[in-house]
Amino acid sequence: MVNRIIVAIDGYSSCGKSTVAKALAKYAGYTYVDTGAMYRAVALYARQAGIGYSESDNGALLAQLGNIHIGFVQTPDGQHVTLNGEDVESQIRTLEVGELASQISTIKEVRAFLVAQQQAMGGEKGIVMDGRDIGTVVFPQAELKLFLTASPEVRAKRRFLELQAKGDNPDYEEVLRATNERDYRDTHRAESPLRQAEDAVVVDNSHMTREEQMQHIIDIFDRATR
Ligand code: DC
Repeated sequence: MVNRIIVAIDGYSSCGKSTVAKALAKYAGYTYVDTGAMYRAVALYARQAGIGYSESDNGALLAQLGNIHIGFVQTPDGQHVTLNGEDVESQIRTLEVGELASQISTIKEVRAFLVAQQQAMGGEKGIVMDGRDIGTVVFPQAELKLFLTASPEVRAKRRFLELQAKGDNPDYEEVLRATNERDYRDTHRAESPLRQAEDAVVVDNSHMTREEQMQHIIDIFDRATR
């Protein structure tokens, strides 16, 4: 009998969590869930409804949570997130939506709304979920927890290249500033701040190639499921 487990992957923004999580899910034959995409989808809904981040805006957002339906669909180029039935994958990947997602993710009720959905997805095990609070809040009982890190400069450079590849014209200093600001907010918020679970395996990929990192993580996974 194959031992199917829950793999929780946490870490800073742009440290390659989703690349690792997707590749590991494929290797294991597990379901992949990108929880950052769920916070981004809520942020996109807010933007489209003219809601920003302020006390009164937050009240308006909470009043509308029941109208926000998030899903995932498989497409030829991978898993995409849907918002009320519409594929919004490319719309959620902008710097602006990322910033608003980081802000609205500090709201307790928004977190409770999404965490409940994430926990329901883990019912059958055989899942790889990435985010900020997966090993600490969503699945504290996960059999394998990975905490990915890389230096802010390395992550800003990766994000910069990603944005360029999409046809944007980013400014590196601006991307680095946004990276540091997002790190600060993600680790200092009152609600479920990003932190390493005590039993997490730390992987610093600043100086690893993708292949080296993947082999390392597959070895860890194989040991955990043996
Ligand atoms: O991983 P990402 O950059 O797509 O996530 C967008 C924002 O969502 C990030 O700034 C923090 C927040 N987030 C969170 O608070 N908890 C999660 N489990 C995933 C993301």
